[in-house]
Amino acid sequence: MTATRGFGIDIGGSGIKGALVDLTDGTLVGDRVRIDTPRPATPDAVADVVAEVVGRFEWDGPVGITLPAVVKKGVARTAANIDHSWIGRDADTLFAERLGVSVENVAMLNDADAAGMAEMRFGDPVARTGVTALLTFGTGIGSALFLDGKLVPNTEFGHIEIDGHDAEKKAAASAKDNEGLSYPEWAKRVDRYLTVLDSLIRPDLYIAGGGVSKKAEKWVPLLSVETPIIPASLLNNAGIVGAAAAAAEGITH
Ligand code: BGC
Repeated sequence: MTATRGFGIDIGGSGIKGALVDLTDGTLVGDRVRIDTPRPATPDAVADVVAEVVGRFEWDGPVGITLPAVVKKGVARTAANIDHSWIGRDADTLFAERLGVSVENVAMLNDADAAGMAEMRFGDPVARTGVTALLTFGTGIGSALFLDGKLVPNTEFGHIEIDGHDAEKKAAASAKDNEGLSYPEWAKRVDRYLTVLDSLIRPDLYIAGGGVSKKAEKWVPLLSVETPIIPASLLNNAGIVGAAAAAAEGITH
């Protein structure tokens, strides 16, 4: 029988967030706990915070945990916006030890992949058919690619090179904030990014996620890319929800 509740943790550059999730509809059960990401965000420091977050709940089932990195079989393989000491770190073993659970009870996955899994399960049903690419615009740009709802894990489309730059450096939401760009100025960069990405993967649909998707009406209508693009449905909690679903379904990559 599929579990009706799960537990997810989303590790981000500024906060580590966890909550119980109702897996029948993708909503949170009770309050979400958020603790600032420690600096530097080394594996040990992050594991302490994750243990503190989980400890605030009465939960002894499987835990899904996201990282803003490529994660292969529980091991972090990249570290674009997190401490470099994550690279090569066996994250599922680290968290299992710190939480006092078996490693089978920890599902590690990339943050954008988790957000995409949540959209597939609980978001707009139009995204479940054909090729869908979810992009999260935040500190970096995360990506998750699906064919008929099934994930192709660990795509890193935020790092394609555009006009001589790593794409996320120019088109992530952090570039908008750091450089004080208006929505129309930033939308031009996103449009250039999507046009190049479109020439490489040409999905049937893009989903725009990340915090800035809350203001989708200010920039999504300005985009000229041919492929249709819709804002994410789940907003802030997509990573938590997707992580909880992955853990309950026993999905690891
Ligand atoms: C990382 C991805 C991550 C994205 C969003 C990128 O810099 O390479 O793994 O999904 O940021 O956090």
